[in-house]
Amino acid sequence: MRLFLDTANIDEIREINRWGVLSGVTTNPTLVAREGQDPDEVWKVILEEVGGDVSLEVTASEADEMYAQGKELAKKAANAVVKLPMTPDGLSAGKRLVSDGIKINVTLCFSPAQAILAAEIGAYIMSPFLGRLDDAAADGMHVLKEICDIYAVQGYETQVLAASLRHPMHVVQAAQLGADIATMPYDVFAKLVKHPLTDRGLEQFNADWQGLQQHLKEGS
Ligand code: E4P
Repeated sequence: MRLFLDTANIDEIREINRWGVLSGVTTNPTLVAREGQDPDEVWKVILEEVGGDVSLEVTASEADEMYAQGKELAKKAANAVVKLPMTPDGLSAGKRLVSDGIKINVTLCFSPAQAILAAEIGAYIMSPFLGRLDDAAADGMHVLKEICDIYAVQGYETQVLAASLRHPMHVVQAAQLGADIATMPYDVFAKLVKHPLTDRGLEQFNADWQGLQQHLKEGS
């Protein structure tokens, strides 16, 4: 399962990229707006920093405008993936972009039925929002399982990107269910590496090593 950061903040991206485990980035209009800068500049820096897929979302709501916007976003870099919402217009524009050879990510997906539609237009990625389903008192992981099962039975090649992940166990469960990609905010990514036993073990190793150095110094 590939690991993506769900952010438009370049400092967060640089920090996780340093670990060597970052395969891509997802942005959305809210995340870009949070940076308070020209979106084109924000995307440019991210596209240069990250070698893998970077999702850039259209903001138009009508199919022709979405298509035109998608064509422009795709031109920004070879690793740009055009993100479109799961609406009739989003599907229509997405299908045209796919026919032009452009990679698309169908976002704001909340059901297996929507996942089938995304696969049928040949989307490169589709993004079910698990945390938001949980927020609405539904079972996000169950929906992810249904989608992964359907894709396996049907042989769909569209990649399932588990989105709106809120904690490390969401990431673990998404991997167990067979999601192709998991995208998460910086704080969730940072929690993946942490374990109190790792910290305690390292403290002990360091203390024992220092003790040996002291012993050798006193003996010489
Ligand atoms: C994915 O592409 C979305 O940007 C994201 O995961 C939404 O997550 P949220 O529900 O935490 O806003």
